[in-house]
Amino acid sequence: MESQVGESGSGNVDCTRLEELTAQPLLTRDYETRPSLVYERLRQQHGPVAPVDLLGVPAWLVLGYREAFQVLQDEAAWPKGLENWRARTEGEVPADWPLGPSLEVNHVLIQGGPGHGSLRTAWDAALKPFQDPGHPQAKRLKAAVTAYADDLITLVGQGGGTGVADLSAQFSRPLPLMVASHLLGFPGSQGDEALMDMWRVLDAGPDAEPALERLLATLAELAAVKLEEPGDDFPSYLLAAHPGLSLDELARELFMLLGMTSDHVGILMSNTVVEVISGDGDGAVRASLSAGMIRETMNRVVMRKPPLVNFVPRFAAEDTPLGNYTIRAGDPVWVSSAAAHADPLFAGHMAPSSTISTRAHLSWGAGRRQCPARELASTVAAVGVGRLFERFSHLDLALPADQLPWRSSPFMRGLRSLPVRYELAAMPERAVAPRPTLDPAQDSTDPVLPDRSARQRSSLWRYLTGLIRGPR
Ligand code: HEM
Repeated sequence: MESQVGESGSGNVDCTRLEELTAQPLLTRDYETRPSLVYERLRQQHGPVAPVDLLGVPAWLVLGYREAFQVLQDEAAWPKGLENWRARTEGEVPADWPLGPSLEVNHVLIQGGPGHGSLRTAWDAALKPFQDPGHPQAKRLKAAVTAYADDLITLVGQGGGTGVADLSAQFSRPLPLMVASHLLGFPGSQGDEALMDMWRVLDAGPDAEPALERLLATLAELAAVKLEEPGDDFPSYLLAAHPGLSLDELARELFMLLGMTSDHVGILMSNTVVEVISGDGDGAVRASLSAGMIRETMNRVVMRKPPLVNFVPRFAAEDTPLGNYTIRAGDPVWVSSAAAHADPLFAGHMAPSSTISTRAHLSWGAGRRQCPARELASTVAAVGVGRLFERFSHLDLALPADQLPWRSSPFMRGLRSLPVRYELAAMPERAVAPRPTLDPAQDSTDPVLPDRSARQRSSLWRYLTGLIRGPR
């Protein structure tokens, strides 16, 4: 007895059970190419909350801004934690469900229950040195990001002072990976091999499974080293704040950090570059960079194109009306920030040309489970993008903005590649942070940075060198 329903608050609440509704598949070709159309169709048909089929498993998708906020804010009514999922407890979720592997790893993002509180407090404590602008660790991080960015830009420039490049593969993807390696405190550039494996896992190609096994083993080894010999790095800070973590648990948290940093920060950087290059006709966005408004530009970008489009599921603690339906206890609920931002209730308040954008968006989440690394992620992205526009005097998209290729998963959406035409600025050597050339004989003595000659022997660097294109 599926019913066509109107706007939220219109009166009748449909009590049909989720399993009995004819849910449409969410992850279709349309979702890949024009997700906003899919959200609008669902909104028209069901209102702010719609039943969807997620690769064979039914779930509720929250499209309304008000409803999304309600779910995110009330952890008691909408807890995370797969143990709360009725269909899973009843054996209704197939063992080979494709989303199983990413949800069944029990780390801070997925976890519900009483253990989450202390784990989250430890995450906040472990990230603090990197996020507190006055802390030496935060200053070291900024210096490292600048130096990594310079290394990558110098490498691109080996193709010539002017040329073509894919700024996604050659900059936005590797830079956050290098930052993650810095946060994790990998000795030397040993982490580079693990970074390549993270890449393989994210790309979900045929070599993803062995790459994941190798990566988890490497992270477990790293966790053991940090337990034995704590350093000035995230794993050591997390252990200090949560001494009860087992090696396996610590390795899972490190995996989570690596995944979040490498994919989402890279997406934010690529999207910001596109916004700066093509945001308006008169170059005002680019001019705003030199006026120190890069953070504001990024805030607008992260709102219009949230890297995390759908959040990990919550579950109704008891039967609760939401939108035009009654959500049964134990039903899975996926909040879509992308759809909530397109809700006329939210979008109606956004002037497209506004340079002062709202901070009420959901791209970093909301409530107690919102992103603890917002400052860190924004800093890395701002420093990286800022450095790009300092070192390239000219950057142009090599494809019209609306033809850039996107890649989507049920959780994220980002550019697959970012082809540009560039011209390097003439810069005095001292203006390039500490490693202006890629000559292995000139290893940096800066303790922040990994050994350069080792990095250049690493598979990450060999891969990046292989991407260098000739002049245009
Ligand atoms: C542009 C980059 C990033 C974006 C857009 C982003 C966004 C988000 C969002 C929306 C959530 C909430 C998800 C939910 O409610 O289900 C979240 C949670 C989280 N993020 Fe981020 N994030 C980013 C980068 C990072 C980085 C770099 C780290 C780690 C260094 C990180 C660590 C976390 C953690 C640990 C949580 C879980 C918090 C909890 O459940 O208590 N994020 N992030």
